[in-house]
Order: sequence, then C-alpha cells, then structure tokens
Amino acid sequence: MNPIMSAHSSQIDISDLTFSYSGQGARILDIRHLSIETGERVAFIGATGTGKTTLLRLIDGRLLGWAGMVEVLGRTLSPRRAAPRSWNANIGFVFQEYALIERSTVYENVRNGRLGRTHPALSLFGIFNDRDETAITEAINDVGLADLADQRVDQLSGGQRQRVAVARCLSQEPSILIADEPVSSLDPTSAEKVLDLLRACAVARGATLLISSHQPKLVAKYVDRIIGLKQGMVAFDTAADAVTAEELGSLYGWHVTQPAA
Ligand SMILES: Nc1ncnc2c1ncn2[C@@H]1O[C@H](COP(=O)(O)OP(=O)(O)OP(=O)(O)O)[C@@H](O)[C@H]1O
Ligand SMILES: [Mg+2]
Repeated sequence: MNPIMSAHSSQIDISDLTFSYSGQGARILDIRHLSIETGERVAFIGATGTGKTTLLRLIDGRLLGWAGMVEVLGRTLSPRRAAPRSWNANIGFVFQEYALIERSTVYENVRNGRLGRTHPALSLFGIFNDRDETAITEAINDVGLADLADQRVDQLSGGQRQRVAVARCLSQEPSILIADEPVSSLDPTSAEKVLDLLRACAVARGATLLISSHQPKLVAKYVDRIIGLKQGMVAFDTAADAVTAEELGSLYGWHVTQPAA
C-alpha cells in the first residue's frame, strides 16, 4: 500500500487533535496545532499524566482512536489502522523503561533495532545482511559500548542499559528519534552524557529528536524548542533558552514570587 503523500513541508503536522483512552472519557490530548520541522530538537515537558507519552505514541503511529489530522513523515495517519511496518521503521523509540531483553547480549538487543528494516523471514532465522551489521556495529560504537557488546544486559548498570536502548534505536537508522524520559533514573552526570549522546547522534544523522522529560532546565541545554503540555493541551511552545519562570510555574502549579527589592 502506498502512503498517502502530503503537500505540507513539516515532518510532523498535527491539527485539531483530540483523544481519550476510552473513546469518550477524560480528554487526554487536545491540540489545535503543532508542527515540527526535519532536524528540529524538541522537548515535551509537563506534570505527570499530562499526555507526553501518549503524544509520542501518536507520532510513532501506534495510537488509535483519536480525532483530527496527523501527518508524520509525509503520511496522513489513520486513527483506525496502525501504520505499516515499513513506515514505522523510520521512527525510533527509546522507551521510558528501556524495554530491553534482559538475558540477551548488548549486540543482540541492538540487532533487534534492525527488525523493521530487514526481511521478517530472514530475521527470524537470525540472518542479517551487511548493511544491518554495519548499522549495528556503528550504533554500539557511537554509544561507547564496543567493549561490552557480548555482555548480557542484566549485568549492566542503569546508565549502560540506557545506552543499549539508544543504540538499538540508532541501529534502526530513524528519521525521527523519540526518547520518552530517557534520563529519569540516571544520576546527573550520566543524564548529561545520555542527552549529549542523543543530541550528537540526531545531529550526525540529520534526524529529528523528540524528548519528554521532567527536568526542563537540564533538557533545555540539548534541544532548540520546549513545548509545555498541560492537561493534554499545548500551554506554551518556546525557544529552549527563552522559557520563563512563569511558564514553568503555570505547568507545575508553582507560585512565582518576585525577588525582594
Ligand atoms: N493505556 C491507557 N489506558 C487508559 N489510560 C491511560 C493509558 N495510558 C495512559 N493513560 C492515562 O492517560 C493520561 C496521560 O498519560 P501519559 O502516560 O501520556 O502521561 P505522561 O505525561 O507521559 O506522564 P508521566 O510524566 O508520568 O510519564 C494519564 O491520566 C494516564 O493515566
Ligand atoms: Mg510518560
């Protein structure tokens, strides 16, 4: 099936979007308009339960049952049918909880990133081509895990596991790289390293980077644009270095007080 091609130039274009999980319960997403260009680096922030993961799943083509218009990578998505595997292979998703296969090695986990790119029957028998092998090796090298390629994932630290998850996503050679709370369980130094790595890999590959996070000050150093979500709505959409204390306060319910004169 051919994708329905769009005349728009934005890589991601969302209009008049509404979504609730039960179909008619509480509204989880309510976005009038949002567009993201190729190569932009964007962070989504907002209180817990505000719809960040749901929005990222929508962009990844895995959310159904919404109303509105959603175009991603030149395809008009359908709220009734999941997008085809060949299209979905262009979007890499680093999950909030890593979603690695614990008893497999680093190499095997990263190789799983190629499953959407290679022939399903061949991959079932563990047959990958030279292009696959190159992408896997480059991804492992890029995240600095070459020495641990044969190590089982359940023997790694949290920061190392996060690197495996990033490498698995990179081996997929995505045009859009999505990382859902990639550093929430890491210490400050490891968190900075992983964010640096995500940005560097996105820049090197010309990929768009979408991150969700609860650490606005930290992620602001690694993205161009910050979108604040509140109850599923875009509360603000601001250049990363221009987000104000009032904007953050409005998201998290803080009271911003003026310093004493
Ligand atoms: N599969 C589901 N079925 C029903 N409700 C869901 C489902 N997944 C999420 N929700 C609800 O949708 C809302 C938005 O959830 P979502 O996971 O998108 O929030 P989030 O902003 O990513 O939160 P967090 O910062 O805690 O990760 C929440 O109220 C959540 O309880
Ligand atoms: Mg979430």
